[in-house]
Amino acid sequence: MDTCKKHNRRSAKRREDDFQEKTWRSGKKWTSSTLSLFLFVNLIFIAAFIYWLDISVISGSPLLEAILTTTTKTSNKTLKHHQPFEYTLNCSDQVLARKCRINNAISPPNQSSDSSGGMCPDYFQWIEQDLRWWKKTGISREMLDGAEDFAHFRLLIVKGKVYVERFKKSFQTRDLFTIWGILQLMRLYPGKLPDLELLFNCNDGVVINKNDYQGPDATWPPPVFHYCGDKESLDIVFPDWTFWGWAETNIRPWEGILKDIKEGNKRTKWKDRVPYAYWKGNPRVSYSRADLMKCNASEWNSRLYVQEWDKEILQGYKNSKLEDQCTHRYKIFVEGAAWSVSDKYILACDSTTLMVDPYFYDFFLRSLMPLQHYWPINTNRKCTDLKFAVDWGNSHTRQAKAIGKEGSKFIHESLKMKYVYDYMFHLLSEYAKLLKFEPKVPPGVKEMCSEKLACSSDGLWKKFMVESMVISPSETLPCTRPPPFDDLSLQAFFQKKDRIKQQVENLESEYLEKLNKKRQ
Ligand SMILES: *[C@@H]1O[C@H](CO)[C@@H](O)[C@H](O)[C@H]1NC(C)=O
Ligand SMILES: *[C@@H]1O[C@H](CO)[C@@H](O)[C@H](O)[C@H]1NC(C)=O
Ligand SMILES: *[C@@H]1O[C@H](CO)[C@@H](O)[C@H](O)[C@H]1NC(C)=O
Ligand SMILES: *[C@@H]1O[C@H](CO)[C@@H](O)[C@H](O)[C@H]1NC(C)=O
Repeated sequence: MDTCKKHNRRSAKRREDDFQEKTWRSGKKWTSSTLSLFLFVNLIFIAAFIYWLDISVISGSPLLEAILTTTTKTSNKTLKHHQPFEYTLNCSDQVLARKCRINNAISPPNQSSDSSGGMCPDYFQWIEQDLRWWKKTGISREMLDGAEDFAHFRLLIVKGKVYVERFKKSFQTRDLFTIWGILQLMRLYPGKLPDLELLFNCNDGVVINKNDYQGPDATWPPPVFHYCGDKESLDIVFPDWTFWGWAETNIRPWEGILKDIKEGNKRTKWKDRVPYAYWKGNPRVSYSRADLMKCNASEWNSRLYVQEWDKEILQGYKNSKLEDQCTHRYKIFVEGAAWSVSDKYILACDSTTLMVDPYFYDFFLRSLMPLQHYWPINTNRKCTDLKFAVDWGNSHTRQAKAIGKEGSKFIHESLKMKYVYDYMFHLLSEYAKLLKFEPKVPPGVKEMCSEKLACSSDGLWKKFMVESMVISPSETLPCTRPPPFDDLSLQAFFQKKDRIKQQVENLESEYLEKLNKKRQ
């Protein structure tokens, strides 16, 4: 019965997923104008995409191609820390770009990059948790083969080179930017990543259902990398593509937008911000967001706005700048069809984040604590909880402001780009240790390199790749991981979270009682 329900919910989730893909731009059915706009925008990157996929098909085309030129400025050894080896992007030599030849031939000089990377943030503890299903058995070739249906692409690292085999097209350019991110990681830590082979899924909904791999006849679950997980899934959580930019919505790569938001934060101090709860986004992607829209009234202390991407694209994204959205004391986070990439932008604002209980998690969200980093909102009582949170915050401004500050600090310090790469580094390294077979490049699969992607892209896609390009190897080692959770510490962690949420509920009950008494 229970399983059945879960199953239904899960297929409902899949439908939601579909739904999101179809309706992210507009809640209405496709009109011919939205469709043609969509096709136009798509055309640009489909062209880039086809080109990337099989360059030989259109060889001799006048499209930009590239080579990687490398300039070594380290001849004077005493200066090497000030003038490190630099990668540059040169899109002018077509023949070389096609084969990533320069990339292979010139690798960075041996740098003494042995200075410590310091301690990693706590959320690195989840790496072992996500991989624990394969700890006893390791990962065999059989577990990966046959699991291609779950994935958009297969990625291999063999002797420091990256190879990609694509199975199907992902939504927008999620796969391109994810592959781009891994290519940049290789540049940041050249020669440090082990050989590996992995499968990656770029959809919203979770992929590997725990229930499907339990019981006497169960097979081993396939390890599949994905942007999020939930407590019923076995997906291996990896940073999403937005860290290298989300071109379709004009959201810059993470390092740049984080600086923009930091500047934006200086414009208005917490206490001078609008004393209400703010949200702006696409409410049509999930039930929870649609439900939130019911709270749009002064009665609930909330100011909710619909983001119309169609209009935004036409108006040059003037009204969707994230750094201009840190104007309210309270900002609501509510997930979409699955996890939402918006969590980091909202938390970065110095406003107090009112977080509607997330069901899904990305690679860092699990480590946030209610009342420390955010104020919890129960998803079944959104409106009353929002009203209470704002009233409480406005009468306890010092504490409310501190929660906002702490959440923001987490994002600006613990989620800076260096740590995103370090998380990827450690996750991939730990994953590679589990492989019981030697990764072999499948026949016909060609090497992938930064210039193949960047030089064959166009417009914002190219701009964001160039902007997020790693230009020199790290001068420090990846950070050192904290000891992994054991069963006890994990249990204690979840109990602490529940206990704090209960405290907030108790506070709210008292508040509602008082309110009722006043009314009588
Ligand atoms: C290298 O740097 C040192 C110290 O700055 C300087 O004295 C020396 O002339 C430099 N050598 C070359 C070849 O540039
Ligand atoms: C780019 O590569 C071409 C061909 O190898 C070369 O002629 C040109 O000077 C390079 N440009 C830069 C900026 O390095
Ligand atoms: C770099 O270091 C590796 C291993 O320490 C060594 O095998 C290799 O020859 C070195 N390369 C150069 C260019 O010094
Ligand atoms: C919420 O209310 C404000 C102010 O009345 C309005 O401008 C806005 O469009 C409303 N949002 C939604 C989602 O209805």
